[in-house]
Amino acid sequence: MKRIYIFDTTLRDGEQSPGVALNMGEKLQIARQLARLGADVIEAGFPIASEGDFQAVREIARQVKGPVIAGLARANKADIDRAWEALQEAEKPRIHTFIATSAIHMQHKLRMSSEEVLAAAEEAVRHAKSLCADVEFSAEDASRSDVDFLCRLFEKVIEAGANVINIPDTVGYAAPEEFGTFVSEIIANTPNIDQAVVSVHCHNDLGLAIANSLAAIKAGAQQIECTINGIGERAGNAALEELVMALYTRGDFYGTSTSIVTKEIYRTSTLVSRLTGMFVQANKAVVGKNAFTHESGIHQDGVLKERTTYEIMNPKLIGIETEAIVLGKHSGRHAFKQRMAELGYSLEERELDSAFFRFKALADRKKEITTADLLALMGEEREANAVSQLEYLQVSSGTRTVPTATLGLTINQELLEEAACGDGPVDAAFKAIEKITGAGGVLTNYQLEAISGGMDAQGAVIVTVEFNKKAITGYGVSPDIIEASVKAYINAYNRALETGAVTKPLPKAQEA
Ligand code: KIV
Ligand code: ZN
Repeated sequence: MKRIYIFDTTLRDGEQSPGVALNMGEKLQIARQLARLGADVIEAGFPIASEGDFQAVREIARQVKGPVIAGLARANKADIDRAWEALQEAEKPRIHTFIATSAIHMQHKLRMSSEEVLAAAEEAVRHAKSLCADVEFSAEDASRSDVDFLCRLFEKVIEAGANVINIPDTVGYAAPEEFGTFVSEIIANTPNIDQAVVSVHCHNDLGLAIANSLAAIKAGAQQIECTINGIGERAGNAALEELVMALYTRGDFYGTSTSIVTKEIYRTSTLVSRLTGMFVQANKAVVGKNAFTHESGIHQDGVLKERTTYEIMNPKLIGIETEAIVLGKHSGRHAFKQRMAELGYSLEERELDSAFFRFKALADRKKEITTADLLALMGEEREANAVSQLEYLQVSSGTRTVPTATLGLTINQELLEEAACGDGPVDAAFKAIEKITGAGGVLTNYQLEAISGGMDAQGAVIVTVEFNKKAITGYGVSPDIIEASVKAYINAYNRALETGAVTKPLPKAQEA
C-alpha cells in the first residue's frame, strides 16, 4: 500500500470560514485531537496574520508532539521570519510558503510578471530553508496556471530546497479528470520532482474537492491537504473524513493507506463542529447524523439481515457508538471519570470536580446523559472562565403575553441585570443581553438542533452575531432551548471581546 500523508489545515484554512474565530485554548484542544487522530501535518495558522495567530502557532508548536507543525507565510522575508519565530520550538517544524502563479492572480492581485514571481518563490524557499529543514511551497491558484510555467517554477523551488510542492485548486475550478492529468503532467515534466513530495489542496466550490483530491492520488500525489468537516474559505476544503474513508473503504481501488486512526474521526468532527459553531449537515458523508440511518423498510430489512447489504462502512470504525452508553444521576464520580477517559478526556482532580458538578446539575434536569451530552458538557467547561457568564434567566411568554426576559450576567465579576420585551422569548432575552453589554450585536443567523434523541434531548444553538461588522459565532447547550440560545449569544459576545471586535463594558463604579 502506498502511504498518503494527511496534511490538516482546519486551524488555518478552516479557521478562515466566515464567522469562525477560535481562541488559543480552543485551537490547542483541536490540535491535540488532530494529533490523536494521527494527522501527519497540522497547519496551525498564519503567524504574521495577527498576534493571536502567532501565539496560537507558537503554543501548538511547543505543546503538540507527534505531527509536523506547519505555519503559513507569503513568499517574503518578513512572513517567513515570523512563521519561523512561531514554529522553532516544534518537534518537527515546517515553513509553508506560497505565491500565486496564475496569470489572473499575477496580473491583477500581485501585479508582478511571471519572472518576478519565479524569482520571489525561489528566494522565499531559499530563505525558509536557511531557517528550517522542512519547507513546503504552494503555487496558489495552480489549477488555473500555465502548466509549463509551473513545472519550471517547481523545478527551481525544489532546487532551492522545497521538500514538498503543493498544487492548490484554490478556487475549486478544476474537474477531476482534468486535475488528474494536470498533476500527471507536472510530475512528468518537472525534472527533479523525485526530490519532493507532491501535494494537492482542493477547494469545494463545485463540490469536487474530494473527487479532485482522489484523482490527484491516482496521478501520483502523496500528500493531501484537507480540513475536518470540510470547513474553509467559501464552500470549504476537501473533508478529511471523506477522503480518509474513501481511501480506506476503497483500498482495493486506490491501493493506499494513511496514518489516520479512524475511530477518532467522529469525535474530532464533533469537537470541531462545537468549537467553530458550524453544524454538520445531516446528510454529510461519513459524519452526518443520517450517514448511517436507514429509513426505507427495504433497507432496514436488508441491514437487519446482513449489515453490508446497505452499509459500506461500519460506523464503529469511525468511532460512532451503535450501542448507547448512558450515565444518569446515580452514576458516581468514578464511573464519570472512567467514561470521560474513554472519550479521550483525562481530567485532573480540579477539572474533574468542576466537570462532575456540571454533570450532576445536568443529571438533575435530564434522565439519561448520553455521549453527546458529555461532549457538550466538556464544551461548556471552557466557558467557565469566560469574561461574561449567565447568572440567571427568567422568561415569560405565551399566546396572550408580551414575551419578556429578565436576566443577570456577570461581567468582570460584577452582576448586571436587565429586562426586555421582544417578538419572542429568545428575542427578548437577546435584547436584555444587549442592554447590559451595549455591544450593538446584530443577530444574522440562528440554528437549533437536538444533540441526542428522546423527549428530554438537549438543544444545541448556534448563533452568528455581527459585532461592529465582524461576524462571530456562538454555541450553547441546555435542556432548555431558551437558555441554550442565551448561552450561545453570550458565547458569541465573549469571543467578540477576545478578538477585540467589541470592548469590555466599564464596571458600573467607573461609569460617568
Ligand atoms: O487555497 C489555497 O491556495 C491556499 C494556499 C495558501 C495553499 O490555501
Ligand atoms: Zn486554501
